[in-house]
Amino acid sequence: MATGISRRVPMDETGFGRRHEALPPLEEGFIDLRTWFPEDLRHLPVEVELGSGRGTFLAQQAPLEPNKLFVGIEWAAPYYRYAADRARRLKLRNVQMLRDDGPMFVQKYLADKSVAQFHWYFPDPWPKPKHNRRRTFQENFLRPLHRLMADPVPGTCDTGCIRVVTDHLEYWDWMQDHAGRVKDIYERLPYVPPASAGAGEWVGSNFERKYRIEGRTFNGMILRKK
Ligand SMILES: C[S@@+](CC[C@H](N)C(=O)[O-])C[C@H]1O[C@@H](n2cnc3c(N)ncnc32)[C@H](O)[C@@H]1O
Repeated sequence: MATGISRRVPMDETGFGRRHEALPPLEEGFIDLRTWFPEDLRHLPVEVELGSGRGTFLAQQAPLEPNKLFVGIEWAAPYYRYAADRARRLKLRNVQMLRDDGPMFVQKYLADKSVAQFHWYFPDPWPKPKHNRRRTFQENFLRPLHRLMADPVPGTCDTGCIRVVTDHLEYWDWMQDHAGRVKDIYERLPYVPPASAGAGEWVGSNFERKYRIEGRTFNGMILRKK
């Protein structure tokens, strides 16, 4: 896979990343993500980003919200390593990276109500019809995510929410369809960019900045747990 990440630059994930192989066996029970962070931060709420890429969202948002813990889950090893090394270089004590399959990990390893919020920016669109079923944003995954999230706090939009953005118009139609299928358990809200997004940006992630130049349009929504 071409990642655009130089192999010559040494990267060090120590203290800021872990890989699936290092996880305890499933039989040992749920993982409390807060235990991955320094002890003095373990009382803080945890937010999870699925498919973090190079970790740009985390690098920008985590310093603005030191009262939250951020776990980024990335499948592609070069991106995972880059994001973990980046968190280390920036000394982001409230960021941890995991190299794993995001949907698999959260469903198998996390306890009910253990995540305050999910971030999901530019998930792979799997555009060929025969591959559509691989799309992560779908009813089959949105339903189990519901139990993992803390209950929403009235008047706020950062607990019990899933925040998703895509640049792919057909995937956007699919997302709206699947959001409609889970309206018994989620309320759909207009998308609001995170504080770290620049003027006119949806997220300010690497992917967005790269494709914005091409003039791509973006769409997003927030699903709040009912
Ligand atoms: C289009 S990129 C977007 C990256 C980043 N969110 C951004 O906006 O710059 C999608 C990312 O999701 C990752 N990804 C795809 N499937 C995944 C999975 N099942 N678990 C974790 N990451 C995944 C890919 O490796 C890729 O880095």
